[in-house]
Order: sequence, then structure tokens, then C-alpha cells
Amino acid sequence: MRPTILLTGRTGQLGSELHRLLPGLGEVIAPDRKEVDLREPEKIRQIMRNVKPQLLVNAAAYTAVDAAETDEANALAVNSEAPLLLAQEAKKLGAMLVHFSTDYVFDGSKKAPYVETDPPVPLNAYGRTKLAGEQAIRSSGADHLIFRTSWVYATQGRNFLLTILRLATEREELKVIDDQIGSPTSAVDLAEATTAILAGMIARAKDQLTLPSVDGIYHMTAADYTTWYEFAKAILEEAASTQQNLPWLTSATKGRPIIARRVLPISTRAFGSPTHRPAYSVLSNARLKEAFGITLPAWRTQLQKCFSPARFPANPPAAVSSR
Ligand SMILES: NC(=O)c1ccc[n+]([C@@H]2O[C@H](COP(=O)([O-])OP(=O)(O)OC[C@H]3O[C@@H](n4cnc5c(N)ncnc54)[C@H](OP(=O)(O)O)[C@@H]3O)[C@@H](O)[C@H]2O)c1
Repeated sequence: MRPTILLTGRTGQLGSELHRLLPGLGEVIAPDRKEVDLREPEKIRQIMRNVKPQLLVNAAAYTAVDAAETDEANALAVNSEAPLLLAQEAKKLGAMLVHFSTDYVFDGSKKAPYVETDPPVPLNAYGRTKLAGEQAIRSSGADHLIFRTSWVYATQGRNFLLTILRLATEREELKVIDDQIGSPTSAVDLAEATTAILAGMIARAKDQLTLPSVDGIYHMTAADYTTWYEFAKAILEEAASTQQNLPWLTSATKGRPIIARRVLPISTRAFGSPTHRPAYSVLSNARLKEAFGITLPAWRTQLQKCFSPARFPANPPAAVSSR
């Protein structure tokens, strides 16, 4: 089976990695926001009916956590209403929907890794809209996989890795939150794991993809956890020790030297963000391992890969056909 795959969010951190990998599994159609704005239901119906995908991978989302506080209607449209419509259309076609959600569906009051059956209690608007999206997909009756992930970063886009590198060229001292615990997860590893799972399902399928179990939520994050403060220190250590000329790093620092000499821990309260975030949002990945035999690498290993030249070969493989 070589399915037709509709991918949304191809310009995002995760979406661009999936756009690189999914052509290995099937014919990929990947409209961007200009082609299909997910706030326009008719556009969604049209693309689903034109493409008739067997597999739908929704990597698009409204991910601006602070902005969502004052723009919840738009966040809801992208994070919940669009996924519902995608799921309903997928059900009509007998297609499977793969969707991504967040650790921010939890309030962080637990002191051990969250499992999929723990009750979600989001603390902020982003988390509420993402939870609404999960619930909408589950209620649609479409075959689905929902991968909850956390603290996503990549060598492009808007994320903590690039912010720390930029700030490190501007300030000698960085203050970074040390009382939020979570699992930084690289879009590369997330996309690789997702693709491996889908490859296994496609290999087993005759003419339709089938799910490993009826409940489609799985946690998919780095295998261990840390704080933003430790993550920031690790980023600067990796940047200081890389001997390579990495184009993404030059772009992140605009070619300027890193002048940061100290990273100081600061509490969430002292940092003063207007948006509530969970103090502890570590997700147990045991169910993912049990169902698919997959464990993502430790967070530091994932980070090191970003600084590895192997990730940016001098002769990249020939482009695979997709649009
Ligand atoms: N980032 C994190 O820290 C994090 C943490 C936990 C879970 N997640 C989840 O992981 C998944 C991937 O996140 P990510 O970090 O890769 O996101 P991202 O980099 O912010 O990318 C979001 C993608 O969605 C697209 N998009 C946004 N609004 C749209 C609209 N109205 N119509 C069409 N496309 C639209 C964006 O298009 P444009 O480029 O045109 O804006 C972009 O391609 C999401 O489900 C997210 O909720 C992310």
C-alpha cells in the first residue's frame, strides 16, 4: 500500500520535518496556510474531497501560548474546530487522522509522569483549545492517533532553542525559569518516530490502515526530563563546543558571537509571565513503547543531534516527489 497523505502545517517545526520524511511512505499533498487556512471550513471540505487522502497528518496548530490568552477564538478555530472537521471528513473517506496535542492539557499538580488516562485540567487558553481538539477528534468516530508531545523545538521556527541562542548574543547574563519541569522534544525525533509508526502500520495494511487499539492517545516526548534553566545551559554548552559551521546556528545568532557568560535560575513568579503554565508536565511514554516498540532518545541526545553536522550532510539525498 502506498497511501495518499494529506499533511497540514508543512511550514511549522514538526510539519517541515514530516514533509521531509512522509514522501518515503506515500504520495504527499501538503497545502500551506495560503492554500488552506484552517479557519475556513469550506477550504477544509474542498481539499479533503479533492485529495481523498487515506492518511491525514495534522501538524498545523495555533501554538502561540501567550497570544492564545487574548485570541482564544482563533486558537479554538485552528486547534479544535478544524481538527473536528478534518476528523469528520476523514471518517466519511475511511481515512485515518494523525494529530498532535500537548502536555499543557495537564495542570502540573502531579509529581510523577502523566499517563494518558490522567484527567486533563488545562491551565491556559492554548491548553483548553488543544484539549477541545482532542475531545472533538475522539467524539468524531474517525480512526485516529493523537500524539501528545511537549516543549517542541527545531533549528527553524520560533522556539526556546533559537530564542536562547539569540539572547546569548545580546546579553552577558540570561535568567531562565528553573521551576518548570518537562521534556524538551526535537521536531526531528518527533517526526522520525511518527513516520516509523506510520511505516509499520502501512506495511501491515492491505488496503486500509488499522489501529493498534481503540483508544488513540499516546504520549510522545523525549525519554527524560529537565527544567528550562538546565535546557538553556545545555544549549549554550552545545553551541560553545560545536566545531562545525552550522548554517542554522549562524542564522540563529545572525553570525554574531555568543557573549552570555552566565545563566541564572529564576522562579516562574519572578519571571512574571502573564500565562499560567504547568510546573510539572512530564509525560510517561510507556504506552507508546508498549503499542509501537518506540522510545524517543533522551532530551540531551536530541539536542546534540541539532548540533551535529550529520544532520546537515554536504550532499543531501535527492528530493522526493511531493507537493
Ligand atoms: N511548539 C511546542 O512547544 C509544542 C508543545 C507541545 C505540543 N505541540 C504540538 O505539536 C504540533 C506541532 O507544533 P509545532 O511546534 O510544529 O507548531 P508550529 O511550528 O507553530 O507550526 C504550526 C503550523 O500550523 C500552521 N498554521 C497555524 N495556523 C494555521 C491556519 N489558520 N491555517 C493553516 N495552517 C495554520 C502554521 O502555518 P504558518 O507557518 O503559515 O503560520 C505552521 O505550519 C502542534 O499540534 C502543537 O500543538 C507543540
